[in-house]
Amino acid sequence: MRRPQLIVVDDAEAASAVAVARVLALLAAKPQAVLGLATGETMRPVHRRLVEAHRRGAVSFARARSFNLDEYIGLRPGHPASFASFMRRTLFDAVDFAAGTTHLPDGGDPSAYEAAIKAAGGIDLQLLGIGGNGHIGFNEPGSDFASRTRVVRLAEATRAANAPAFAPDPVPGQAVTMGIGTILEARAIVLIATGGAKAQAVAAALGPATTPDCPASALRLHPAAVIVADRAAAAGIS
Ligand code: F6R
Repeated sequence: MRRPQLIVVDDAEAASAVAVARVLALLAAKPQAVLGLATGETMRPVHRRLVEAHRRGAVSFARARSFNLDEYIGLRPGHPASFASFMRRTLFDAVDFAAGTTHLPDGGDPSAYEAAIKAAGGIDLQLLGIGGNGHIGFNEPGSDFASRTRVVRLAEATRAANAPAFAPDPVPGQAVTMGIGTILEARAIVLIATGGAKAQAVAAALGPATTPDCPASALRLHPAAVIVADRAAAAGIS
């Protein structure tokens, strides 16, 4: 088993620059690439840089396709805290994906998402964030490494971390997420970890062995996974 390659940079801006450079290189080599996308605070500077690159003519998404990792269950369509809304605000409305080529999972039919990813030829590059508890997508600790797209219950720590987006309303208790097995089928994986709140999870992900206690440790099972961490997120690595 291979430890994911670790790239440590100064801060979140530098981490997002590393990830975006990989996306741009992929789309330059393969304009029809299939991107695996993520949401969350970590992705804001990533999406901002992708939008900037598009505006200066450095990248087009016109032939690309995308599949997001996850979505909450039970929100009305257009809810501002839904991941669909986040993606529209931070990326999709500002770049040139063709209509119908960006996808988020639907809790009503998780297996259709697996079929759509397969029909697209599989994911070329999956971007990941990491939860303070080591989750990837919404695969919480204890998730099976062979898991596929499915409905899951969110850990209380995850609901607490995501509460600001919903305040004063409660965070949904359930979500639909690509499984760890689904994620591991991506041809390349770049996990971005920024800030001290991720230090313990990053250390566990790079620990001596895989453990279901830290879903991100499953990246060892991938032949070419990369973790890009800023100094704060890398602080716990021994
Ligand atoms: C989001 C996702 C989650 C986040 C993680 C970190 O689509 O799948 O795993 O990447 O919860 O969230 P932030 O970046 O907000 O700390």
